[in-house]
Amino acid sequence: MFYEPGNDHGLPFDPFKSCVVPRPIGWISTISPDGVSNLAPYSQFQNLTFDPPYVMFAANQKTSGTRKDSTVNAEQTGEFVYNMATFALREAVNKSARETDPGIDEFDLAGVTKAPSKLVKPFRVAESPVQMECRYHQTLRLPGTGTMGTVDIIIGRVVAIHIQDEYITKDGKIDILKIRPICRLGYYDYAVIDNLFEMVIPGSNHDLCSGMEGAAGKCTRI
Ligand SMILES: Cc1cc2nc3c(=O)[nH]c(=O)nc-3n(C[C@H](O)[C@H](O)[C@H](O)COP(=O)(O)O)c2cc1C
Repeated sequence: MFYEPGNDHGLPFDPFKSCVVPRPIGWISTISPDGVSNLAPYSQFQNLTFDPPYVMFAANQKTSGTRKDSTVNAEQTGEFVYNMATFALREAVNKSARETDPGIDEFDLAGVTKAPSKLVKPFRVAESPVQMECRYHQTLRLPGTGTMGTVDIIIGRVVAIHIQDEYITKDGKIDILKIRPICRLGYYDYAVIDNLFEMVIPGSNHDLCSGMEGAAGKCTRI
């Protein structure tokens, strides 16, 4: 089949989201200028670069057409936290997606524990195995269809990373199979990471490998 987005695709459900999978879920915590904690999942989430690390989440508008609370808080306070979403935390992740009044504490709503951050004000989700403290860098706003289509892409620089020790293996790697991160597919579908495989680029040298490993500083070329 072929279709142009915006025109009829002829299927009962829009296939687009199912064509970009799996998407990691950025479980984003923020705090409002008057101190209310907010928590919401964003599957339009990604790392942008790694040295120094930057991440982004893309927040569409609320059903009412206004900006989402995570967007407003990140812009107004200049800070947000990424928490990794896992299979064990899936129900809490889902509860925190409810469209609530900005005055409601969504850590309480989701039933998760607040852990203080070291460099930023928003709390971390204590139960999440990996969290990143981020400083707001920039918003990119893309126009879209209807009340929800316009999107605010929030970019932040990662200034601190927490990894629970029990999820670091003896050989110093993050134990993804123990963490069991969840990711979004299309429709109402999710996937969980419960297997992995390793590949090295054929003929790769030390410098290429430093990019794969995420350590630009190890590259010997200037
Ligand atoms: C797994 C999952 C992923 C989601 N991803 C996004 C997303 O990428 N962008 C978005 O605008 N909304 C997304 N949502 C919906 C938001 O989480 C929801 O609108 C939430 O109420 C926003 O909260 P906030 O206004 O407190 O930021 C997602 C919901 C779920 C359950």
